[in-house]
Amino acid sequence: MHTNLVPALLPTYAAYPFPILKGVGDQVFDDDGNAYWDFYGGHCVCATGHSHPTVVDAISAQAGELIFYSTAARIPLRDEAARALVQFADGPASVFFCNSGAEAVENALKIALKLTGRKGFLAFDGSFHGRTLLALSVTDDAALRKGYEDFLVPTTFLPFGNMDALEGVDFSSFAAVILEPIQSMAGVKTADAEWFATLRSKCHTAGTLLIFDEVQTGFGRLGRPFAAHLYEVQPDITTCAKSMASGMPMGAVLLSEEVASQLKPGDLGSTFGGGPLACAALLATLSVIHSEGLMARAMEASRLIQQGLVGTVVSAVQGQGLLLGLRAGSQAGALKKTLLSKRILVGGSGDPGVLRLMPSLNVSDEAIQTLLDTIHDYQEGTL
Ligand SMILES: Cc1ncc(COP(=O)(O)O)c(C=O)c1O
Repeated sequence: MHTNLVPALLPTYAAYPFPILKGVGDQVFDDDGNAYWDFYGGHCVCATGHSHPTVVDAISAQAGELIFYSTAARIPLRDEAARALVQFADGPASVFFCNSGAEAVENALKIALKLTGRKGFLAFDGSFHGRTLLALSVTDDAALRKGYEDFLVPTTFLPFGNMDALEGVDFSSFAAVILEPIQSMAGVKTADAEWFATLRSKCHTAGTLLIFDEVQTGFGRLGRPFAAHLYEVQPDITTCAKSMASGMPMGAVLLSEEVASQLKPGDLGSTFGGGPLACAALLATLSVIHSEGLMARAMEASRLIQQGLVGTVVSAVQGQGLLLGLRAGSQAGALKKTLLSKRILVGGSGDPGVLRLMPSLNVSDEAIQTLLDTIHDYQEGTL
């Protein structure tokens, strides 16, 4: 008999002290109808805002036609979504759909192992790529890796963005180099375009695949479709998820023509990958990003936030577009708590001194002003 010693839902997550029942644009609402400004975006997911009408209509219409059929059938909507994504990404030739970021990373790394026949990876200090075993192999988080060490693929970790650290490294021993173009969990750390270009060239020379994990940086958040455009470097493989379908579970592996041409039917698979609802949501997301100028809005919102924080407890703003790290040092914890008490949601990070902002790309001026006013009030001790 069930003894109620543990809750039915395994308590693996630290959650807000209130439930969220509804979302509209840049706000979510609790069970008392209280509104919260959402600068966390459901962990960098809700790029078009909560329940954008275009996305809701697309999902509803598709649900009335066909909720699901597997990849055993050709579904024209899936082809259309793939074409639209490849066009948006402007570089990759082909896409494999899956359901999450970790699954996209897992597939990308598997492809690299298979195509190169090599046995290890190069990744970077502070990286987060997911919790499945290959993704965990390239994730620099001792607590998450503990207990699985024997099952992880050998990975060399180097300092992120450090040019000197690349000297003398034998790239031909790695199947792939994988990186987040902006390291989000590590505290929104950036690197120079020159560093990316050097990695690109070393990978090219060594026949090593370069993988950009754009699970957080993709889909216009940095003001460009992908970070690859910002840094002007084309990786061999790109992984994406989070924002791509405005919250419908979806992941994708984007492949260069050279990589895609070496894969054959049966090499990759997923029951739910590229399901009709997710594809409808992806197409609606891309259409909203274009029609509402969300990449430009992300840059404008970023500028407003950065300007408004000058002279506050936030000593530096790291990142780009709407993937921002606010360096608040020893004040970060108290500031996050105060913001929550004023019904403003922001994220923490692996760096205890850095808070993260990753709101919808159409975050309103009102939301931004409320955030800035609250940080100024915190600074002046009036809260
Ligand atoms: C850069 C990056 N890669 C991969 C993942 C894993 O994605 P998911 O949680 O959808 O499996 C995450 C999740 O936060 C991420 O930030």
